[in-house]
Amino acid sequence: MDVVCNDCSFHVGLQGEGTPLLLVHGFPLDHTMWAAQMEFFAQTHLVITPDLRGFGKSADSSEIVTMRQFADDLAAMLDTLSIHEPIALCGLSMGGYIGLQFARHYQDRLDRLILLDTRSAADDELIAGARRQMANTVLADGMSSVPGAMIPKLLSPATRHNCPEVVETLTEMILRQFPAAVAAAQRGMAERPSSDDLLSQIDLPTLVLCGQHDSITPVAEMLSMAERIPHAEFAVIENAGHMTPMENPNAVNQHLAAFLEPASVK
Ligand code: MLT
Repeated sequence: MDVVCNDCSFHVGLQGEGTPLLLVHGFPLDHTMWAAQMEFFAQTHLVITPDLRGFGKSADSSEIVTMRQFADDLAAMLDTLSIHEPIALCGLSMGGYIGLQFARHYQDRLDRLILLDTRSAADDELIAGARRQMANTVLADGMSSVPGAMIPKLLSPATRHNCPEVVETLTEMILRQFPAAVAAAQRGMAERPSSDDLLSQIDLPTLVLCGQHDSITPVAEMLSMAERIPHAEFAVIENAGHMTPMENPNAVNQHLAAFLEPASVK
């Protein structure tokens, strides 16, 4: 369905019934990266899968979108949908940066937090500069170079070799994103503040998952992040790189399901 709020029209998937589970996609992707989780959790939860501002079917013309803006959009979407009960928020990578902003500003709206293949630290100048460079490139030349640049980092070598359908799905997903949205999100990520100071204040059951072969947000960094969150569980997803929900959906679903149930004893 379409949800209009914060001067933008958002495409939001809603499936199932029960405790709300909000799935926040990564960059430069859209809600379809969660296909395996939507199908699995719609049996037990109200699964909410937005396309973030500018991505998928949520068109937008901002020159920069900060992680705070994305988090504010999620809160406004929930309000517009009259979802006021505490939710479980699961964010992958950029979705995790946004999840941490949501936890900072709307912690009372959260029941649980799930951080997949993400980090709390800000970018150094080298990475921020590369983001601004990519923003300029896609605005000038379009999206054609992005899959080749990103897929070797997003997927493990084994996934790339053994799972051509995952490579194809991800390639198509990247190619259909709007250059303006990709540029705006890269600029927003380049200037995102560190969330390191927040970690000790996350007073929620938290699950941190990392792909065994994640080269963007490696296991050691994610373990160190999890150790700074008071109520965090940490697990490694085998046979996966950065895109754990697509590369090893069964393992991600099992870890998530164990963490989410039963709601009353956490
Ligand atoms: C993502 O998967 O969302 C991106 O790798 C995030 C980033 O570029 O830092």
